[in-house]
Amino acid sequence: MALSLGSTRVVITSAPEVAREILTSAAFADRPLKQSAAELLFGRAIGFAPYGDYWRGLRRIAANHLFSPRRIAAHEPQRQRHTEVMIDAIASAAGKDHGKSVGIRGFLQRASLANVMQGVFGRCYSGAEEAELQAMVREGFELLGAFNWSDHLPLLRAINVDPHSIQERCSKLVPRVQKFVQAIIDEHRQARSGGDDRESSDFVDVLLNLSGEEKLQDQDMIAVLWEMIFRGTDTTAILTEWMLAELVLHPEIQRRLYHEIEELQSKKSPPSPLSDQDVARMPLLQAVVKETLRLHPPGPLLSWARLSTQDVTIAGHHVPRGTTAMVNMWSITHDPAVWSEPELFVPDRFLGVEFDVKGTDLRLAPFGAGRRVCPGRALGLATVGLWLAKLVERFEFVEDKERPVDLSEVLKLSCEMVNPLSVGAVERCPIAASS
Ligand code: HEM
Repeated sequence: MALSLGSTRVVITSAPEVAREILTSAAFADRPLKQSAAELLFGRAIGFAPYGDYWRGLRRIAANHLFSPRRIAAHEPQRQRHTEVMIDAIASAAGKDHGKSVGIRGFLQRASLANVMQGVFGRCYSGAEEAELQAMVREGFELLGAFNWSDHLPLLRAINVDPHSIQERCSKLVPRVQKFVQAIIDEHRQARSGGDDRESSDFVDVLLNLSGEEKLQDQDMIAVLWEMIFRGTDTTAILTEWMLAELVLHPEIQRRLYHEIEELQSKKSPPSPLSDQDVARMPLLQAVVKETLRLHPPGPLLSWARLSTQDVTIAGHHVPRGTTAMVNMWSITHDPAVWSEPELFVPDRFLGVEFDVKGTDLRLAPFGAGRRVCPGRALGLATVGLWLAKLVERFEFVEDKERPVDLSEVLKLSCEMVNPLSVGAVERCPIAASS
């Protein structure tokens, strides 16, 4: 489908084969830079930097130092710790044995923020600092997800009209972000000059260690660090909230998942906490994650659209340079011609079949595909897999009779539940290992 939004030419596809053509085409390796993204410094961060040497360098650095299997494995102990903190907080909110209903979103958001902070800044922030970071991420999310006529009617920008107050809100947010992140960079610099041996211990150190042509200005470093915090926080929390909602609606699948965990744990001697390795060996759990990504892809319109940098032919049609392209992943994953009974939650459809959700099969590519595929996908999947396993091991999630699960969706930057999930979290007896 082709349409014009003001001066923006847009093509949208809901066909997997056309989606592949667009996402993997070198001609679509750029992104349109929305006004809010530009104002929020993202033009110099990975997600919105123009396709070229600067972007390539950032992707390489992030791939090696933040998202490589080695780094993800090295961060497992911290991920475990943050998961335990989250689970204990849910347990105390639920009240032991009573299964009081709890709103789950806040716990997930806190844990994912802690996870990303640890990997990127090297430590977690609590109290007022954590609250400030959370508020900044929330505001940034709203601004980036909001529709803005100024993106499509350049005249509005030229005459300085800000119909949705986006520019005004961005200009209030940016100094807060700069102050916060600059203080962290300065802290790292001080520790290094004081002889503290912090060799590449976190992503700030990695960026500070760059030299020669790769060296980044502080402003660029702020953009890159802020984007990582921003991108890594909400997606994992939103996906886990959807998974739990579906498990509450499908208690038999939750029961089977618990049995899978129980069986795996009972074979261990001595008993040990569930690990990333365990999670990789749990076919039903992997199937639940994939089925949730299918029914509720967090970025259903691949919110990060693409921009053509040259004239190109897509599905036999001429697409001029400067055209914005979007893939409607939601429509593909709900298409009866692509998936049987697409409206039903059936994780079993993924059992016994090899299905890669990381961008090779466009029938389900919730992380995008091609050059600009999500670099955080392995980290995101490791996080939600571990959370799900440990949450279901500790609690049985049951419906909150006063606030039943409502699967209505709202599309912001990601696709969220309109009514945040409230569930009863009933603690289970610990699983005993066999001798
Ligand atoms: C469930 C978790 C996640 C989902 C569903 C998700 C989804 C996406 C999608 C759809 C894109 C656009 C891909 C494209 O244009 O082809 C993207 C890009 C991106 N994501 Fe993720 N993401 C997740 C987790 C993360 C995490 C944990 C991080 C970092 C900590 C991250 C960082 C990024 C970045 C930096 C980009 C821009 C890549 C570029 O333009 O080169 N994401 N993500």
